[in-house]
Amino acid sequence: MNRNIAVIRGDGIGPEIIAEAIGVLDAVAKRYGHTFSYSEAPMGGSAIDAFGVPLPDSSRKTCLASDGVLLGAVGGPKWDSQPPENRPERGLLKLRGAMGLYANLRPARMFAELSSTCPLRADIAAKGIDFLVVRELIGGVYFGTHRTEMVDGEQRATDIMSYSEHEICRIAHVAFQTARQRRRRVTSVDKANVLDSSRLWRKTVCAVAEEYPDVELLHMYVDNAAMQIVRDPSQFDVILTENLFGDILSDEASQITGSIGMIPSASLGEGTCGLYEPIHGSAPDIAGQDKANPIGTVLAAAMLLRHSFGMEREAAAVEAAVKSVLRGGYRCRDICQPGCTPVGCREMGLLLREAIC
Ligand code: IPM
Ligand code: MG
Repeated sequence: MNRNIAVIRGDGIGPEIIAEAIGVLDAVAKRYGHTFSYSEAPMGGSAIDAFGVPLPDSSRKTCLASDGVLLGAVGGPKWDSQPPENRPERGLLKLRGAMGLYANLRPARMFAELSSTCPLRADIAAKGIDFLVVRELIGGVYFGTHRTEMVDGEQRATDIMSYSEHEICRIAHVAFQTARQRRRRVTSVDKANVLDSSRLWRKTVCAVAEEYPDVELLHMYVDNAAMQIVRDPSQFDVILTENLFGDILSDEASQITGSIGMIPSASLGEGTCGLYEPIHGSAPDIAGQDKANPIGTVLAAAMLLRHSFGMEREAAAVEAAVKSVLRGGYRCRDICQPGCTPVGCREMGLLLREAIC
């Protein structure tokens, strides 16, 4: 197969981790007889420096014309003084909107090899962590009206959180369909004891659930969910939630698996073209020092192969390579434990390429 991948290298450690993920994709292409071509799509801080805006039109078009988008990470203190409309993060939000990526899948899975890096109590970690956060990605407060104005002699800021039924319906279907391929349990997370948008969320999810009688549906308030994720993560299979709650819970979920550096994510819409990225940020403090962990990005590339290209065998080969390198005792510094072999970003990439079979 011939496939074109739009590549957003981004800021901070973005370019380093993307280079290793491309190396792994090339190893997959060689092994399985595919041709992958790459089109650069500058976005974020580096695009602000080069073009004055975080998402140049040409990058948006490159992404929309591609078969899938691979993204490193964007942002950094250098662009903190940009006006809200021109921050690096705005580029990402605009791209999610332009591509219609309403479904964000964030797996929280602990590799058995890394259970000693899990920050939870050993008896909790021993039960295993394997759940998936399905986060609504182009609605809610992120895409509501934002306003700062003078009221009675002081500044007042407002952000509106709203959801329509169709926005809740379509993400609920993604959660139920995904649960069918897993352990058939959806926990819908909201704040229905306080928010109208959450009350509509709960009602709509219940209506969609009637089409999936074989999937168990539970509801949980978001504060309780944040607590349950550290108390007993083994109770979760699929967590379905709105944009802001999903942003917060998915960071918590990733960290309990050992390291945020290991977790990929997929953002999907109606078509097959999706956006794939690690869930961690651009880590400007370690940029350019060969210290970053490329595994989250490599696993994001595996999700790209699976969800956008339908290449299940190839995706599994990448995931197996990660497992085998971890089993060999090689670790980047964020997950390094006594007795393991510490490696940098480039060496980890090399090991992963060699492990593709
Ligand atoms: C994420 C990030 C983004 C978000 C930022 C960079 C806008 O935190 O993908 O989780 O809040 O969605
Ligand atoms: Mg986030």
